[in-house]
Formats: sequence, structure tokens, C-alpha cells
Amino acid sequence: MASFRIQHYKVLDSTNLEAKRLLLPNSVIVADTQAKGRGRYRRSWSSGKGGLYFSIILKRQVSESSSLSLFTLIAALAVRSGIKKIAGISSAIKWPNDILIGGRKVAGILVESLITGKVAFVIIGIGINANNSLPRELRKRGISIRQVFKKEIDNQMLLASILHSFEKYLSSWKKTDFSPLLEEYRSYCITLGTIVAVKSGGRQFRGRASGINEEGHLLIEGKDGKHEIIDGTLLK
Ligand code: BTN
Repeated sequence: MASFRIQHYKVLDSTNLEAKRLLLPNSVIVADTQAKGRGRYRRSWSSGKGGLYFSIILKRQVSESSSLSLFTLIAALAVRSGIKKIAGISSAIKWPNDILIGGRKVAGILVESLITGKVAFVIIGIGINANNSLPRELRKRGISIRQVFKKEIDNQMLLASILHSFEKYLSSWKKTDFSPLLEEYRSYCITLGTIVAVKSGGRQFRGRASGINEEGHLLIEGKDGKHEIIDGTLLK
């Protein structure tokens, strides 16, 4: 199992952007703060001091990298496991990429890819509200680990634990198919079985979240039929 090489910065525009500039496989870019932290769908990601912001760079053959959503799922599992191991706090996953404690968002994942010829670089960006104070407008929906842990969490230990789990999940994915990981993801995913409204590709879908398929896509059963959502935002 290849270990990750860690590059640490005090400040960056965004660790995902730096990762795309460097394209160093098996590296992890970490920043104490980000001036332009990015979330999914061009949203910004609040990146104050005390949080944990990093991007993992992987290199794959284009032919193997079709399942980008699956990287999001294993990153979510690794973050959940790291928080549990280091702080003893249980968290849940909201499909596809939100990690929640008590219904409030503690971490998010932004997976991007860059393709040059036959090679794909996969950038897995992870932002965790570890010890940072959240801006007022995010305090209802967001939460930090420190708020629940009641003391500062060691970001280096948290990072090491997440990377360790992430590598474990990656190698188990290589050895078998994705189904055992999918089973684990499903067991922590609070979206399943609930009634959801999802915005995806300019459309809105409503219905019961009935499953997550082998590609990591959400399956919805609505009054208007069944839908497979590749990527989207859950509105409720
Ligand atoms: C989301 O929930 O919308 C995804 C948030 C991802 C934020 C992380 S912080 C580290 C990495 N660098 C970024 O600019 N974004 C990701």
C-alpha cells in the first residue's frame, strides 16, 4: 500500500486548485486556511483557521476512473471512521458527500478529475470543521467537532487516521469489487428510506430514496416513476 506524501501550507487559495497545479500522484495537499475554499456546484467553503482542509491526488488510467462517485463514497467512509477513532463521535452520511453530526454538517467532499491523454488525475478534496468557528450564517446547519468533543481535536491525528482508512478502503476496493464498501456506506447513509427532493442537472426529483447502486448513484421512487441520480443536491 503506497503511503501518501504530505505537503503542508499555511494558506492556499484552495487545496484542490493546488492539487490540480501540482498533479503529484499519492500526495496530499493540506492547508491551515484557504482563501477560496470551494464546495460542490461552485459554492464556497468556509475555511477559517482550526479546520482541516486537504486534497488527495491519485493517478489512474482513464479506463479505470469512470466511477468518480465511488471515490466520494469511500472518502465519506474514511472521514466518518477518522472522526469516530480520534474523537469517539459517531457521524452519519447524507448522500453523497455530507458528513453530519446531529443533523448538522461537519464535513464535505469535493471530487474532481483532470484528464490528460490516457491518464486521469483524481483530486479528492475534504473539508472538516474540526476546531474552526463557523460564520454566523452557517451555525444552524453546520457544526464543528470541537463543539461536540468539548475540546480541541488534534488535526494531524485526524488527518493520519482518515488517510489510513482511505488507503484501507482503496486497497479493499482493488482486491474485491465495491459491494462490501457499498454495504458499509449504506449502513451509515441516513438518506436511504427517507422522502427526498433532489436537484440534479437543472431538474428536481421527489420521492423515496430506495437505494444506492453499484456506481454510487441514488435511486429514487417517485409518483412519476423511478429515477437514478448520478449527482445532485438534496433539498430535504
Ligand atoms: C461540499 O460539501 O460542497 C464540498 C466541500 C469540500 C471542501 C474541501 S476543503 C479542501 C478542498 N479544497 C477546496 O477548495 N475544497 C475542498
